[in-house]
Amino acid sequence: MCGIIGYIGNKEAGDILIEGLQKLEYRGYDSAGICVADEKSISRTRSVGKVESLKEKFALNKHKGTRGIGHTRWATHGAPLEKNAHPHSDLEEKIYVAHNGVLENYKELKDILQKKGYTFTSDTDTEVIPHLINMYKAEGVNIKEAIIKTVKCLTGAYGLAVIDKDEECLYAVKNGSPLVLGIGDGEMYISSDEIPLIGKVENTVFLSDGDIAEIRASEYQIFDINNFIVEREVNEIQNEAENISKEGFAYFMEKEIFNQPQSIKDSMRGRISKDNNEIIFGGLMDHWGKVQNATSINFIACGTSYHAGMVAAYNFENITRVSSRAEYASEFLYRHPVIDKSGIYVAISQSGETKDLLSAIEYIKKEGGTVMGLVNVVGSSISRITDFGIHIHAGPEIGVASTKAFTSQTLLLSMLAIKLAKDKGTLTKEEYIGIKNEILDIPRKIQKVLSCNDDIKKLAEEHSDKNNTLFLGRGVDYPVALEGALKLKEISYVHAEGYPAAELKHGVIALIDKDMPSIVLATKGTNINKVLGNVEEINARGGEIVMISDEDQDVFSHIPHTRISIPNTHPILTPILSAIPLQLYAYHSVVVRGRNVDQPRNLAKSVTVE
Ligand code: F6R
Repeated sequence: MCGIIGYIGNKEAGDILIEGLQKLEYRGYDSAGICVADEKSISRTRSVGKVESLKEKFALNKHKGTRGIGHTRWATHGAPLEKNAHPHSDLEEKIYVAHNGVLENYKELKDILQKKGYTFTSDTDTEVIPHLINMYKAEGVNIKEAIIKTVKCLTGAYGLAVIDKDEECLYAVKNGSPLVLGIGDGEMYISSDEIPLIGKVENTVFLSDGDIAEIRASEYQIFDINNFIVEREVNEIQNEAENISKEGFAYFMEKEIFNQPQSIKDSMRGRISKDNNEIIFGGLMDHWGKVQNATSINFIACGTSYHAGMVAAYNFENITRVSSRAEYASEFLYRHPVIDKSGIYVAISQSGETKDLLSAIEYIKKEGGTVMGLVNVVGSSISRITDFGIHIHAGPEIGVASTKAFTSQTLLLSMLAIKLAKDKGTLTKEEYIGIKNEILDIPRKIQKVLSCNDDIKKLAEEHSDKNNTLFLGRGVDYPVALEGALKLKEISYVHAEGYPAAELKHGVIALIDKDMPSIVLATKGTNINKVLGNVEEINARGGEIVMISDEDQDVFSHIPHTRISIPNTHPILTPILSAIPLQLYAYHSVVVRGRNVDQPRNLAKSVTVE
């Protein structure tokens, strides 16, 4: 949430910052701002709305300079107004700060500063930071020491980029919110993630919590809060430039949906040995004993990643016979759970930065639990604080609605489930090989599902006047129903609910009428005859029915419905296929309503606040 960019070098900083913000825009897009400095002056441009309007405004201002910082905002404190857009400055307009995160003690700090005569021009928590730096500088310390003293006052999560008119450098500070340095030849970048750095630099340094980096055009140094130098590993950028372009698709979400045959292949690459059918996860090798003997498997995540965890909980418990459950990270932490020290906690995250999940992981580790990560973004905070883990390798996901991350998470967790079940002897060798062969065939089957795109587009167009939709399923189809509902509501703003099909009769059935379509998942792994009963109940009340079921399923033929078939596969893999028509349905539902597919209102891609 919120994107930060910084540049220092020999090129015009303004254009570079705007380009960087456009790539970070998926992290927040209610307002944006940049601040550019040359040897003599410093100037700021801010604008409400998308980076495009900032770009237009900046073109008129024509500020020149070879260093600067920028920010694209997802509002927490204060409405999306220009006065609340970052960077924020001190009253002398010399020190500017861009902030990602939330300061928990900003009210106390604001009171102290106001009593000292500092006046505030915004409603943000961030504005205390430039004032504090100014205050410490006025006491006679240099900028770096003033930043260190300021950081010591802050409670909460923050990634900061700081620029001072009088200093030929930039500062980056990390505590809880991600920041990465891009190391170029005579130029350096600060960024919230690697994406704006792809094609610009070859090497990056991920900052750790507590790091304060002093960055000049040709060198940087990292300090801790006690001003001692710390060393951080330099990494090579792994992503390719084409991963962050739309490649001819209208939207990133569309590209990411259609990319799934490939992203699934990328996730399984090198993980199934051809010689002996072994499933190999390099990151688990040294910890396999712990996984094998786990007394419980606990999936912790948020949003779509939580739905992947729910699918996994059904599958793991079913085939490994180890007690398995999934829980929202945001709820987990606050119920003060008892940690199973002989169990495994699996933290699932696309971004690797989700704050609720980070806090839950910290809690589990503090209580002596073991955390395995399943994370897409290499080098992200979650991938670094977990005990061991698996990288998802689905490639960058830019569309705010998560699609390919879900299918890859589900695939990898299914692979892990069968590996564990084989080792535990709860799956026979023949069953294991059968599922493994099905896994290898999944990319082809996804391609087949994608060929129903036109039918789904037509359905979404027919439903363009519907304001409510139900998604129903039993067993492993239930988390997929939840995912279908989340996808639809988050991007099209159509009210949608995911429900266990059997719960219908306990209240929800009251909602059924001709204007409330029910999208029912009825795949082989679940009790089809029971689902049939639920579908009959909807039909009897005049509700419209859309069925998503395996291609050889015909028990519903006597009930009027629209049918979307998915290829037959092993039931533990079905969610990978059945989620895709729901992604397409959500996508076309937005397009037909003329709304912003990749940047839905009120949302951001990486949720770095609790
Ligand atoms: C929905 C969506 C969110 C994320 C959730 C967790 O399409 O993208 O619900 O799944 O914010 O994010 P990660 O997986 O990055 O931890």
